[in-house]
Amino acid sequence: AIDSNFEVNRERVGEEDGVAVWGPVEPPEKQGIRGTHVAVDFDICLADGACLEDCPVDVFEWVDTPGHPESERKANPADEDQCIDCMLCVDVCPVDAIDVDPG
Ligand code: SF4
Ligand code: F3S
Repeated sequence: AIDSNFEVNRERVGEEDGVAVWGPVEPPEKQGIRGTHVAVDFDICLADGACLEDCPVDVFEWVDTPGHPESERKANPADEDQCIDCMLCVDVCPVDAIDVDPG
């Protein structure tokens, strides 16, 4: 499961499309955690898609990660600012790749 203390335990190494990137990032095998309020561990995500289908405000969008061992696309929390803290995505992700910090 995603480390809910990633903001302490990981280093913020940059930003992609306005979404924070938390390392380590060593493409293609290591893609890090993306997002802050809504965070997705790209190294755990296996492209199930439930988060994209169920999020009522369409926070997520697919990004391609060719060559990643788990899956070649990931759910990027591109519109995390829109999140209404319903926690549905956290509940439906089969591999607990998502962390949402309400408040
Ligand atoms: Fe979307 Fe709810 Fe997840 Fe926020 S907590 S990203 S609103 S499904
Ligand atoms: Fe990935 Fe979980 Fe969504 S596996 S696509 S973060 S439901």
